[in-house]
Amino acid sequence: MILEVNDIYTAYGLSQILFGVSLKVQEGEIISLLGRNGVGKTTTLRSIMGLTPPQSGSIKWRGEEIAGKPTYEISRLGIGFVPEDRRIFSDLTVWENLDVAIQPGRKKENVWTLERVFDLFPALKPIQSRKGGYLSGGEQQMLTIARTLMSNPDLLLLDEPSEGLAPLVVQQLGEQIAKLRREGMTILLCEQNQRFSLDLSDRLYILEKGTIKYEGTVQDFLKDEKIGRTYLAV
Ligand SMILES: Nc1ncnc2c1ncn2[C@@H]1O[C@H](COP(=O)(O)OP(=O)(O)OP(=O)(O)O)[C@@H](O)[C@H]1O
Ligand SMILES: [Mg+2]
Repeated sequence: MILEVNDIYTAYGLSQILFGVSLKVQEGEIISLLGRNGVGKTTTLRSIMGLTPPQSGSIKWRGEEIAGKPTYEISRLGIGFVPEDRRIFSDLTVWENLDVAIQPGRKKENVWTLERVFDLFPALKPIQSRKGGYLSGGEQQMLTIARTLMSNPDLLLLDEPSEGLAPLVVQQLGEQIAKLRREGMTILLCEQNQRFSLDLSDRLYILEKGTIKYEGTVQDFLKDEKIGRTYLAV
């Protein structure tokens, strides 16, 4: 098991958001974390990254406890976070945005280079000298993921990557994420767009009001229409 979140409780000040969330991610899997608006998906990712550390519970990375560690250490251990708000430098060019993000990581082989990133996201190559502030939503999303890959993570946490993108761009992004997975990347994907994420995933978890209400394989989930109707936006 690469990541094991066990019974975490997380709050922002006095507002309690997560009530005993547990989930597991195995190496090479794509896992969806689904749920309506405001149920705690982002908070779960922020808890894992140490941005909003849990008050209690355990988060194990390759068997080692990381709950309570500072974010830079967690990221150095091999967890890459792609936040929802697409944090790129708008005054830097695409190339510069990627270049400043280069970190060796722990990997010895299959290291991410600019060339490899442009291979995965061919649309970024011809616009390498364009400033981040002049990119379309889709280009920004690709650049945000690409930046995170430059730190050579073993696990990617993706927060609503398809949000606000045109259908065609969402489809391309799906293909790129599928390609990443074929190359061995492990991904925890938070989404409201369940069609997009289930197409890519092996297993899923559904959050509702800070609690996991369902876990199972995508196959089993699709067999039972009731679950989706109960916990997901229709
Ligand atoms: N910094 C914060 N301070 C206080 N409350 C917050 C903060 N960030 C989020 N919340 C609250 O925590 C709850 C869960 O938010 P979270 O962002 O984890 O949900 P989400 O499932 O990611 O939702 P969405 O689909 O809208 O992204 C929400 O009620 C939200 O208002
Ligand atoms: Mg969110």
